[in-house]
Amino acid sequence: MRPLDPASATGRVRVRPFSEGDVTDFLAYQGLPAVRRFQPGEAMTAPRAAAFVVEQAQQGATERGVWHGRAVELVAERRVIGDVGIWIPAERNDPAVGDLGFQFDPRYQGRGYALEALRAFIPTVVHDFALDRVTASCRDDNGPSWRLMERLGMRLHHSADEERVYTLDPDDLRSP
Ligand SMILES: CC(C)(COP(=O)(O)OP(=O)(O)OC[C@H]1O[C@@H](n2cnc3c(N)ncnc32)[C@H](O)[C@@H]1OP(=O)(O)O)[C@@H](O)C(=O)NCCC(=O)NCCS
Repeated sequence: MRPLDPASATGRVRVRPFSEGDVTDFLAYQGLPAVRRFQPGEAMTAPRAAAFVVEQAQQGATERGVWHGRAVELVAERRVIGDVGIWIPAERNDPAVGDLGFQFDPRYQGRGYALEALRAFIPTVVHDFALDRVTASCRDDNGPSWRLMERLGMRLHHSADEERVYTLDPDDLRSP
């Protein structure tokens, strides 16, 4: 199956594979503690950011048991302002599920870029990995994250221990 090319509806952002030249833009936000405030793990160091970008740039488009990250480029500025990605389990289960993640540069949040990027990204991974369902989770106090999931049309599956888990059946993906 040929991978789909994720084009955003308005063309403000482009979702594309990482390239090795993205390290500086990527580190500019992944190195900020604010970006990891609601997530496990530390802000990235320069070597870790470089290793992640190179690994993603070299990864096979249909590999399983790995994280498939994509750079989100702001077309007007030709810079990477965030990334989206999905965890594809090693084995294909029934239903086939992928788990979504996203993080954006705080300087470019609050403008709908993450929403636009995910609306472009989700149909491509659903197609490329023949997914039946997409999940995503976040902490209860991460309002920007769960509001984004709800804007996408995701449904609250359950909430426990201050964590919310959302699911999306591909037909429910909300368009602008
Ligand atoms: C989660 C995250 C990606 C959300 O980013 P975001 O920019 O708020 O998300 P959106 O693209 O949906 O933008 C929505 C905001 O832009 C505003 N907006 C402005 N112009 C808009 C437009 N043209 N279209 C849509 N929304 C627009 C909306 O009103 C909304 O603001 P509000 O939440 O104050 O109501 C971001 O907060 C982030 O990267 N956080 C750190 C990492 C993280 O926690 N990731 C999730 C881990 S589970």
